[in-house]
Parts: sequence; structure tokens; C-alpha cells
Amino acid sequence: MRVTVAGVEFSSPVIAASGTFGYGIEFEDIVSLDRIGGFVTKGLSREPMAGNPAPRIIETAAGMMNAIGLQNMGVRAFIAEKLPKLRKITGTVIIANVFGFTIEDCVEVIQALNDAPGVAMYELNASCPNTSHGGMVFGTDPPQLWELVARCKAAARRPLMVKLSPNVTDIGLMARVAADGGADAVSLVNTFVSLAIDVETRRPRIANITGGLSGPAIKPIAVRMVHEVSRNVTIPIVGMGGVVRAEDAVEFMMAGATAVQVGTASYADPRAVENVANGLKRWCVTHQVPHVSSLTGSALL
Ligand SMILES: Cc1cc2nc3c(=O)[nH]c(=O)nc-3n(C[C@H](O)[C@H](O)[C@H](O)COP(=O)(O)O)c2cc1C
Repeated sequence: MRVTVAGVEFSSPVIAASGTFGYGIEFEDIVSLDRIGGFVTKGLSREPMAGNPAPRIIETAAGMMNAIGLQNMGVRAFIAEKLPKLRKITGTVIIANVFGFTIEDCVEVIQALNDAPGVAMYELNASCPNTSHGGMVFGTDPPQLWELVARCKAAARRPLMVKLSPNVTDIGLMARVAADGGADAVSLVNTFVSLAIDVETRRPRIANITGGLSGPAIKPIAVRMVHEVSRNVTIPIVGMGGVVRAEDAVEFMMAGATAVQVGTASYADPRAVENVANGLKRWCVTHQVPHVSSLTGSALL
């Protein structure tokens, strides 16, 4: 069941997605962490962030909307309080999700993590607004994305995976820009910007007004985007968006992903990531697939 992404070996291609698995340690007694490929931490910023006011999570048809606002303890507290416990867990890969509102912020987070043992790779969240450029989201503007990736790659002493924003017209172009900037891998999709209105009060159902849509509702769009990205870059792709069952993971891999992440499904069932990982193993046995990596890009398209 082994796969390799940017030189990092995973015992399974199934990984827990950022923002849906805490800092990982919270799931230690619920999930057999050595049965999953690894997990991505909550997004880490230079300073602690309180996040957005409630309500910030709602359920939609076949999905979920959130505007958590990237609440987190800050990179220094993560290194001091969480990482020493995480380091004791063996047989799983720890990926640190990094974000910032300026390039310098992102570089600082990466530099702080560089000196901390235990983290195998970085996932750079490109879906944040760049406050030095009028708040335009890094991942929706090719020159800004290129500069962000190039500067972070220069700072990173570990493989850098760039998490693309799906709120763009041409995801293939954005993947090429990330690869050209030096990304070692790309992950996609993050959530889709969305709006839900309570028709009785005529007010938005989320205090932030808009939120990010995730879950099964987005899966076919995410699979299409993974396929497009696979036609545009040669670096590894980690696919996600609505993975709930093993067959969903297989679908992402057939579309071109080397590995997959499971996010929203963990809200319905905290053991979802492990269930998908175990299910994928069984799927490979029943379909006589000796090497799971052979699924990557194997769809007849
Ligand atoms: C509550 C919540 C919080 C999230 N927080 C982050 C985050 O901090 N950083 C990030 O890169 N993605 C974040 N995401 C996006 C997920 O990692 C994932 O890309 C997205 O939800 C699509 O996958 P899914 O449909 O399996 O959830 C968050 C998603 C949810 C639902």
C-alpha cells in the first residue's frame, strides 16, 4: 500500500486533511494512526488566531460549509506544546499546513518549523488573501502564486506541497505556476467559496457571510480538477474533496492522484480516514491490484 510523494514514503495513500483532524494528537485514541498514511495539521500561522465568530459551520445538501477563519495556536505554540507528543507517534507521516497573509509570514512559519524535528513535509495553503496586495487570494493570481511558492521553497528545508485554490478558471495553469515556482507536489482541492441564506431571517447562515463548501457535493468537480492538473504537471498530486469511501479514493487516484486526503468525512465519523485506508487495502485485494500506486492515472480517459 506504499506510495511516495516528493521523496516522502507513506504506508498508505490515505491521509487526513488539514483543519479536520486537529493537530493530529487529538485523534490518537480514536484512529490507529499507523494504519493511515499520515495527517496534515490544522493551518499554522506566525501568530495565534482566534478565528471567525459563530455560526461558522453548517450542513448543506451533501456537504458542509465552514468559515472557521483559520483558528490556530500559532506555529511556536504548536512546536512547543503539540510536536513533542506527535513525535512519539510512529508509523505515520506528519505534514504541517502553513499559511500567512503575506509572503514573509509564510516564510517565517516555515523557518520556525525547519528547526523542529518530526515534521516530514509542508503543505502551503495558497487560499489565503495577500494583505500586501489588496487582499487578493495568492492562489488565484499566477504572479502572486509564483512568488509565494518560490520564496517558500527557498526557505523550506523539507519537501513543499502547494495546496491549490479551486476558485479559479484554469486549475491546470495554477498547477503549472506552482511547479514552476518550485513546488515538490500539489494538493487539491481546498474548499469552494459559497453562500447560504436563511430565507426566514434573510440573513446568511454563516456569520462570515461566505464559507468554504466541502464534502461529497464537491467530489466530481475535484476529480475533474485533479485530472486537469495531471495533464499539466509531472510533480505528484494529492487529491481530495468529498472522499468518504474507498471507491472515492480509487477514483481520485485513477484521475491522476498519487495519494488522497479525507476531510469532512471525519466530522461524520472520526474513524473515516482509517476506514477509507482499510477499505482501499481490501479494494486492491478484491480487484487484484498488487501495487496501489499502479492506480494513479489509470482511468481510461
Ligand atoms: C472545518 C474545516 C476546516 C478546514 N481548515 C483548513 C485549513 O486550516 N487549511 C487548509 O489548507 N484546508 C482546510 N480545510 C480544507 C480541507 O483540508 C479540504 O481541502 C476540503 O475540505 C476538501 O476536502 P473534504 O471534502 O474531504 O473535506 C478545512 C476544511 C474544513 C471542512
